[in-house]
Amino acid sequence: MSRADRFLRALRGQPVDTTPIWIMRQAGRYLPEYRATRARARDFLTLCKTPELACEVTVQPIERLGVDAAILFSDILIPIEKMGVPLTFTDEGPRLEPVRDAAGIAALRVPDPEAELPYVMEAIRLVRRALDGKVPLIGFAGAPFTLLTYVVEGHTGKQFAETKRLLFTAGETAHALLQKITDSTVAYLSAQIAAGAQVVQLFDSWVGQLGPDDFRAFAAPYVRQAIARLKPLGAPVIYFANDGSTLLADAAGLGADALGVDWRLPLDEARARTGADVTLQGNLDPCALFAPVAEIERRAADVLKRAGGRRHVFNLGHGILPPTPPEHAEALVEIVHRLGVAAS
Ligand code: CP3
Repeated sequence: MSRADRFLRALRGQPVDTTPIWIMRQAGRYLPEYRATRARARDFLTLCKTPELACEVTVQPIERLGVDAAILFSDILIPIEKMGVPLTFTDEGPRLEPVRDAAGIAALRVPDPEAELPYVMEAIRLVRRALDGKVPLIGFAGAPFTLLTYVVEGHTGKQFAETKRLLFTAGETAHALLQKITDSTVAYLSAQIAAGAQVVQLFDSWVGQLGPDDFRAFAAPYVRQAIARLKPLGAPVIYFANDGSTLLADAAGLGADALGVDWRLPLDEARARTGADVTLQGNLDPCALFAPVAEIERRAADVLKRAGGRRHVFNLGHGILPPTPPEHAEALVEIVHRLGVAAS
């Protein structure tokens, strides 16, 4: 058993030699080599849409950190643009032209991924070749509810007032948008898998804004549907419901092979809510990587202890932050591999 398969084995609930680890946003601004490649691209979207550059930054953290999986360098908003919502990135984050009414939503399209997002599929093929079997490649998409918030708000939400206005005052229109996003997401992830992604992750970054009843009405059915439609393709599916501790018991019933857990809930408590039949991925507080290495080790050991050696993929509880010292991310990977527990 080796680095090449411990991540896939942990997702499938098979024994592993040590706990696998990857880091959300592992290719990013905390790495000087990322900043150097980023400076060669005109802007962030150009970086995402240039397969050679996207491949380069995807592979950068693999050797430096020693992580057990690569994640495609892209963004959850890339397919939204092709649905017909113009997108730019500013220093304050993404900006879209919001769509909030029935007519606007009816006019949105489900893009053909191979024809309209060829740079994503080409990046995947390049990455698979560059990785040469060293570690598996994760593809990803935004989960339907989170993508709806970007379409409706036009930027990263704060109160999510426009989102909830749509949900609570025009439920049918909201469901039409969620279904269209789900169809687009299934086509997009199916194409990623066909191009070579071996695992896919659905990022539900803002779903923690919903109470349990609204999660069951507006988020869960579309995640369940997407997973059911992807399952026959054979690639394990990870569902990450950020700030979702109150939703975890429901999330466990959606068919995912693994659930991402944020740092707000200790993993043993997460396990009590999900039951044994799913792999848990997480959940060190990203800010723990600001601390000295001895403190990182103490906290990582606590996460591992709470995981109890059962169906666990180590990760942060959300994306790594730009001020993180790269050496601390390297130290974390070494610590997890050294202290990681073999599943029984
Ligand atoms: O994990 C990885 O290494 C793969 C790359 C990746 C990016 N975005 C690159 C990126 C992934 C998986 C994402 C997903 C994503 N994008 C999410 C879900 C994950 C999460 O954090 O909850 C969301 C909500 C977005 C939307 C988005 N993209 C925002 C809100 C921002 C601006 C905030 C920020 O962090 O800058 C982005 C920009 C973005 N996406 C950057 C990167 C590396 C920074 C842009 C830059 O380099 O200038």
